[in-house]
Amino acid sequence: MGVRLSPENSFNDINDSNPQQTFNSIAGRLSNFQLAYLHVLEGDMMTGERRLDYGALRGYFNGFYMANNGYDLESANAALEENRADLVAFGKLFIANPDLPFRFSHHLPLNTPDSATFYGGDEKGYTDYPAWKKDQRS
Ligand SMILES: Cc1cc2nc3c(=O)[nH]c(=O)nc-3n(C[C@H](O)[C@H](O)[C@H](O)COP(=O)(O)O)c2cc1C
Repeated sequence: MGVRLSPENSFNDINDSNPQQTFNSIAGRLSNFQLAYLHVLEGDMMTGERRLDYGALRGYFNGFYMANNGYDLESANAALEENRADLVAFGKLFIANPDLPFRFSHHLPLNTPDSATFYGGDEKGYTDYPAWKKDQRS
């Protein structure tokens, strides 16, 4: 089992008066549960702001740390190489690219996520993003 935390995400008016201290403490306490991972939405996905020290938060957790929010292939690889995370999760890029691992591993261009179709509607933006075709040129 893993746990996901969103320490400073303001979606749906979520707010904490002292997120660094609160979530450092939570990360420390979660170390007692032998979790498979701690998944952290770093910063605010609504505004792009990022005020917490996630390295400090990670230091309180004794297992695998999965970083998330705004990462692409380059920034994810940098986070891994600089040991800022053990794993990186992708949200919007996966919504728009059903074959994201294939595209990443072949350094292919990505479909652009369309935020207008994110939260409901019909199949548009849900099942109609195209996978890379074999003979497609980049
Ligand atoms: C359409 C959509 C729905 C989402 N639903 C949830 C959700 O139900 N619960 C949650 O914790 N995060 C949700 N998220 C946030 C994502 O899990 C992820 O943390 C966020 O998109 C930032 O990562 P990214 O920049 O890789 O997309 C949602 C994001 C999007 C775009």
